[in-house]
Amino acid sequence: MRSACLSLLLVTACCALPFRQSGFLDFMMEDDPGSGLPDGTPELSFPAERAGPKCPFRCQCHLRVIQCSDLGLKTVPDEIPDDTTLLDLQNNKITEIKEGDFKNLKGLHTLILVNNKITTIHPKAFTPLSKLQRLYLSKNMLKDVPANMPKSLQELRIHENEITKIKKATFQGMSHVIVMELGSNPLKGAGVEAGAFGELKRVSYIRIADTNITEIPKGLPGSLSELHLDGNKITKVTADTLKGLKNLAKLGLSYNAIISVENGSLANVPHLRELHLDNNQLTSVPRGLPDHKYIQVVYLHANKIAAVGTEDFCPPGFNTKKAMYSGISLFSNPVAYWDVQPVTFRCVFDRSAIQLGNYRKK
Ligand SMILES: *[C@@H]1O[C@H](CO)[C@@H](O)[C@H](O)[C@H]1NC(C)=O
Ligand SMILES: *[C@@H]1O[C@H](CO)[C@@H](O)[C@H](O)[C@H]1NC(C)=O
Repeated sequence: MRSACLSLLLVTACCALPFRQSGFLDFMMEDDPGSGLPDGTPELSFPAERAGPKCPFRCQCHLRVIQCSDLGLKTVPDEIPDDTTLLDLQNNKITEIKEGDFKNLKGLHTLILVNNKITTIHPKAFTPLSKLQRLYLSKNMLKDVPANMPKSLQELRIHENEITKIKKATFQGMSHVIVMELGSNPLKGAGVEAGAFGELKRVSYIRIADTNITEIPKGLPGSLSELHLDGNKITKVTADTLKGLKNLAKLGLSYNAIISVENGSLANVPHLRELHLDNNQLTSVPRGLPDHKYIQVVYLHANKIAAVGTEDFCPPGFNTKKAMYSGISLFSNPVAYWDVQPVTFRCVFDRSAIQLGNYRKK
């Protein structure tokens, strides 16, 4: 039931458009159906023992789902039943994953290790997990993405660790990955080697927010539908980094240091619907918006845009856009709102979709 529910969530979260990925894990982490007892309360009956199948001490075992969260565990417990499909070990104090920790767990689909103190993972620790689809390693102290991850993986979440570099070979052969979350790691400079995501032929969602990367990763796969790179130190958008991203629908680049969007960038992402470029250093509206057929949301607030022309957003004359804008934000820019001609927004769905606002002079 639980794993069916998770699969459903994954499908809803990953494959439908538009997706709302954020909050998925939060919801899952709060959804803890077995935790009726306050911490430390002794259980009065021992259903797992009575029924026969083993269950690690103090964990709760139900329908092949093993819940061992918030127990202060320093190591992965022994005696995990071989037929386990979901193993939840979040909020413990595990420091190391050893070679045999998951031996025999051939049916495991989901492994949750979020919020531990893991610094090392044995290179063969994941080898037995040939059916693993979801691996959650966020909030640990890993300095590298673990080696030899199961090729069956569909979702990898490893944000808030201490990873400084994503190497070209890191995700080799992981052709089933759909969701990749790498945010809040101390990636510096390029941070991600060119082509590091090249083998993720099905990936639809990549988030590398709040690191310190200075450029958009090169060689992103054409399957990508959402790319979230907010809160980095990216200084420019170049057309070649977006080349071939014909499925990209959402591009998040808020809170960077972008001074320019190269001509031709938008033409490389013909199905883009949302572009977030707020809180950057842009001095003009990016080129190519009037020719773009599908873009609907463009956030440009909190930049250094001093002028907005009547041809910046909409095609001249007859409206050739297939979708009207539903959101344009321009507030907190040096341009005075009374200097922007109303005709500028002739291809906007509704006047309320435009946020012009005021710019306060210091
Ligand atoms: C990014 O760099 C700043 C200093 O410029 C630092 O304070 C911050 O922790 C870095 N972010 C990460 C995720 O390492
Ligand atoms: C970009 O395009 C605009 C017009 O669309 C043109 O005025 C400008 O010179 C171009 N810039 C470059 C660097 O090609």
